[in-house]
Amino acid sequence: MTATWQLCASCGTETSEIDPHPRCPACRGLLEIRHQPPAAGGNALRAVFDARAGVRHGPLASGVWRFSEVVLPTAGEHILSYPEGNTPLLASAVVARWTGVGATGGGDLLLKHEGQNPTGSFKDRGMTVGVTQARRIKARAVACASTGNTAAALAAYAALAGLPALVMVPKGQVAFGKLAQALAYGARTLVVRGSFDQCLELADQASDRLGVYLLNSVNPFRLEGQKTIVLELLQQLAWQPPAWILVPAGNLGNTAAFGKALREACEWGLIDRVPRLGAVQAAGAAPFAASFREGFARPHRVDAHTVATAINIGNPVSYDRAARAIRDTNGVVTTVTDDEILEAKAVVDAAGIGCEPASAAAVAGARRLVREGVILPGDRVVVVLTGHVLKDPGIVTYYHQERQPAPPYANRPVEIDPRLEEVERVVNA
Ligand code: F0G
Repeated sequence: MTATWQLCASCGTETSEIDPHPRCPACRGLLEIRHQPPAAGGNALRAVFDARAGVRHGPLASGVWRFSEVVLPTAGEHILSYPEGNTPLLASAVVARWTGVGATGGGDLLLKHEGQNPTGSFKDRGMTVGVTQARRIKARAVACASTGNTAAALAAYAALAGLPALVMVPKGQVAFGKLAQALAYGARTLVVRGSFDQCLELADQASDRLGVYLLNSVNPFRLEGQKTIVLELLQQLAWQPPAWILVPAGNLGNTAAFGKALREACEWGLIDRVPRLGAVQAAGAAPFAASFREGFARPHRVDAHTVATAINIGNPVSYDRAARAIRDTNGVVTTVTDDEILEAKAVVDAAGIGCEPASAAAVAGARRLVREGVILPGDRVVVVLTGHVLKDPGIVTYYHQERQPAPPYANRPVEIDPRLEEVERVVNA
């Protein structure tokens, strides 16, 4: 075996890193990427990563490939990078106050804004690695099912690579900005009369039948890229881990990737203490939370219904690896209502930061965990904002202009005739 290989989490089959199957060829279980520990860990490895922080050109300018030793060390000349990553870690007194984090006791809240990636979501971090791998195995085309963001990222990165892309999205359940991106970047777009969960089954079968490389988070190379959200935020905190990392949870790829990143970061001496993971689901799409409450005795499956369309998922594919992530980090899974999501979003948006509804779920989750006494007054909390405010303009219009009665943070536009007195009347009201 080389320094990197693939291992089936179900049956233990090992395959080489350039085996082209997105699932275990023996049992169709989920694969995991394994790396030999880097030659030098701890301080030396931190120093390697830190020395690259200012690089402007080439793959090392990417917030993913900066960590290539622990992502895909052998990708070499195949690397396809926008570049992506290098997203800001923001403080906002307004958002912190709304959540209650740090109200007493010296804790604080930081927002890791993954919406600042090239296509406006964290998916670009997984996609740069996924499409790099597709080039490496000489895939003819790439495909995914998506609630929108994966489709946008796949479409863009496939276009950059000159590969045909096929995306499947659930009809009527994809935010406008995301569908627009898939079309604009030139992906063959199938609007499926069904749910995301049905789209994923279909994409899985179709990729087998048509020999198209599947780039959902089933694909373990995607997760290697998404690990860098955690690595980059740790680096931004000078490798001093926060008490908590909160993330919205749908198909559970990110939760799984975060768990793996933290496990490896500890093993390789990048950090000496593991933050607790908080996975936040929308109450109407919360199979993982239901299962958490039962000590992960069995996976649940639900009919999903939430305004946060990105996480409107009832049968998450990375269930087992995400459960391990929560167990390993002494983490929690919690839920928030659609009203809480929309209020959190209005607060984040009005703070000048902005995010899409699924991202706001994690902010609402912070408030809930503070109120329940799970997040403590002295805790530093990093919330990952997974997507950009412009992804879902429809929900903004609904909240601010259409919802009756006006919700707490509604910013109603006022229509006027073109006369100065009208402006004065509104401004002085
Ligand atoms: N936040 C956003 C903005 C997302 O787009 C997604 C997933 C999640 C959170 C949840 O992450 O699935 O790893 O638990 N979007 C996928 C998609 C499903 O198709 O774009 P997860």
